[in-house]
Amino acid sequence: MDPTTSQFGPPEGERELAAVEDIVSQAFGMPLEEMTPWRQKVEAGGGQLRVLREGGSVAATSVLIPMGQWWGGHQVPMVGIGGVGVAPARRGQGTATRLMQAALRDIRGRGVPLSVLYPATQPLYRRVGFEQAGSRFELRVQVSGLDFHERSLKLRPVEPADLPALHDVYRRYAQRQQGWLERGPYIWNRVTHPRGEVAYGYLVEGVNGVEGYLYLTRRLISPRDLLQELSLTDLVALTPAAARRLLSFIGDHASLAREVVWRGGPADPLLFLLREQTYQVKSLFQWMLRILDVPAALQARGYAAGQSGALHLEVEDDLFPENQGRFVLEVENGEAEVRAGGDGDMKLHVRTLASLYSGFLSPDALRFAGALEADELSLRTASALFAGAPPALPDMF
Ligand SMILES: CC(C)(COP(=O)(O)OP(=O)(O)OC[C@H]1O[C@@H](n2cnc3c(N)ncnc32)[C@H](O)[C@@H]1OP(=O)(O)O)[C@@H](O)C(=O)NCCC(=O)NCCS
Repeated sequence: MDPTTSQFGPPEGERELAAVEDIVSQAFGMPLEEMTPWRQKVEAGGGQLRVLREGGSVAATSVLIPMGQWWGGHQVPMVGIGGVGVAPARRGQGTATRLMQAALRDIRGRGVPLSVLYPATQPLYRRVGFEQAGSRFELRVQVSGLDFHERSLKLRPVEPADLPALHDVYRRYAQRQQGWLERGPYIWNRVTHPRGEVAYGYLVEGVNGVEGYLYLTRRLISPRDLLQELSLTDLVALTPAAARRLLSFIGDHASLAREVVWRGGPADPLLFLLREQTYQVKSLFQWMLRILDVPAALQARGYAAGQSGALHLEVEDDLFPENQGRFVLEVENGEAEVRAGGDGDMKLHVRTLASLYSGFLSPDALRFAGALEADELSLRTASALFAGAPPALPDMF
């Protein structure tokens, strides 16, 4: 296929919408009759359907989800990418590669410096500059171990009027994490209505208002003896008392629920509260990050308070020439300035920069993987500047 005939944009007219539904249904094994409601849900949440047209018809689909991501206490604009699918007969011909290149140009053109996705396959996304940058773990906890008996804080069901307070609690927690989302309606809808179900929300109140909340669904795992599994689509506690109250609440399900599952990162303070290690942690995905605008991305994130130092980078990027070349990252007490030029002491591809930026791998680990070259001083400076909690995401998109 001649790539010069490729066109990227929103689907137009009934014929293209039907093509999107057909491609997504076949790509993800979803029944065709569920596709129109899926499309409406995506658009209602602010997701943007985008197609690649080649030879006059739709060859591939994607969904762009504008959000933000918290890095070093700063919110950095980010567009999540999901729903990548290529019509079966058009696979293996570079179609998805051209779709991704066009999508990334589109996102960069909006002035957004980051993009994140969950890869079903890595080579495709590496080819366009994404790299592993954070985890999504499944945390599976035995309910019988949640015997905190902490009921001093009030716990009650969430009501619609509570949502602004809940969103505020989430944001206060997320901004102290690495890589958590600044959620829009698309992600909140996945919290409250996972797979079309309604999740039950409960919140904990202290004298200063809401201190934590969770959303849960229950699934029968053994209809004969009524055994259940609890699945949390969100769990946030701003205070230790709220954390214990929420864990006690989950413990109150122990008569029929054996396990509770939530998703997050490897360093979850709620697991630290447990008396015994009555849980299992499983890696579901390493999500991938694309740095679309090197100076803007480096400048927009926060760095550890009190950190200062200068790092001279030489970046390679085959897709965006603007990212190619030398940059100096100068950090003064946690705030960054970036300028072009410098000595290029640390040489790396824009892919590797994603793993460094996020703190997913240390500069030493990246050097051992053969992904960057640097002198000792640059390695030490980069280790200090990009140090932080392990980057993680509870949310899937
Ligand atoms: C995954 C998927 C999007 C890939 O689509 P695709 O159009 O076949 O992807 P590409 O052609 O760009 O790349 C696939 C392979 O074809 C090869 N290829 C063949 N001709 C090519 C060309 N002219 N240019 C580039 N690559 C070409 C590539 O090398 C690539 O192999 P590699 O990834 O092992 O390196 C498609 O298989 C799909 O829709 N799958 C189901 C849904 C899914 O998994 N979506 C991803 C969710 S994250």
